[in-house]
Amino acid sequence: MADAEYVIELTNVTRTYKLGGETFNALDNVSLSVKPGEFIAIIGPSGSGKSTLANIIGGLDRPDNGTVLVDGNDISKLHDGQLSAYRNHHIGFVFQSFNLQGNNTTMENVMLPLVFAKLSRKERNARAIECLQSVGLGDRLKHKTNQLSGGQRQRVAIARALAVKPSIIVADEPTGNLDSARGQEIMSLLHKLNKEGITLLIITHDQSLANQAHRIVEIRDGKLTGRRG
Ligand SMILES: Nc1ncnc2c1ncn2[C@@H]1O[C@H](COP(=O)(O)OP(=O)(O)O)[C@@H](O)[C@H]1O
Ligand SMILES: [Mg+2]
Repeated sequence: MADAEYVIELTNVTRTYKLGGETFNALDNVSLSVKPGEFIAIIGPSGSGKSTLANIIGGLDRPDNGTVLVDGNDISKLHDGQLSAYRNHHIGFVFQSFNLQGNNTTMENVMLPLVFAKLSRKERNARAIECLQSVGLGDRLKHKTNQLSGGQRQRVAIARALAVKPSIIVADEPTGNLDSARGQEIMSLLHKLNKEGITLLIITHDQSLANQAHRIVEIRDGKLTGRRG
């Protein structure tokens, strides 16, 4: 949908878990609207629902109630196959623990999300090289990812996220396993991608990293509090 006011629009989203007969809302009636090109930091204590929110926006999980519009389409109602197609076309997801195939090369890792793309092997190769170059790893194309440092691994993960040319990147504590200098490098890289037009949602524990976002959204006990939109 062209020129939609919001690229992401969550309305009254609830995610419920059942624990020994009790129901418990990991997300409780959450509404959040994100404009194209925004850079949002989501903060909150451990267990407050940050990852649950990230997973729902990223199409890794579905809400029990509410709607999740992305580019005007409600992804909360999609079947599994449709949801994975959504992930493969719109979303780059970056995890705290990198989630790479350690014994595979950086190129192989970055090409993985392209198996569903209608691209020739040559085009997939070219795309992976371009993405690895854009994160500063053009000289590490043949390295196995378990031979790289933590900061380099997260850059491979970001290159993998970029491979599908996403309009949105969701990063769940992308600096959580890195020292502060390496964490800042990753933030700077994500910042650069946002300046190039990608809508960015970053979950972080680190207030100084959150302060670099355009807007901070705080979540507590599954509810958005403080500054919101
Ligand atoms: N699969 C699950 N089953 C039951 N409870 C879960 C599950 N995933 C998350 N939770 C619970 O939901 C709450 C929010 O979790 P999460 O979104 O991972 O928090 P955060 O990322 O902010 O640390 C926590 O209380 C957590 O224990
Ligand atoms: Mg989490």
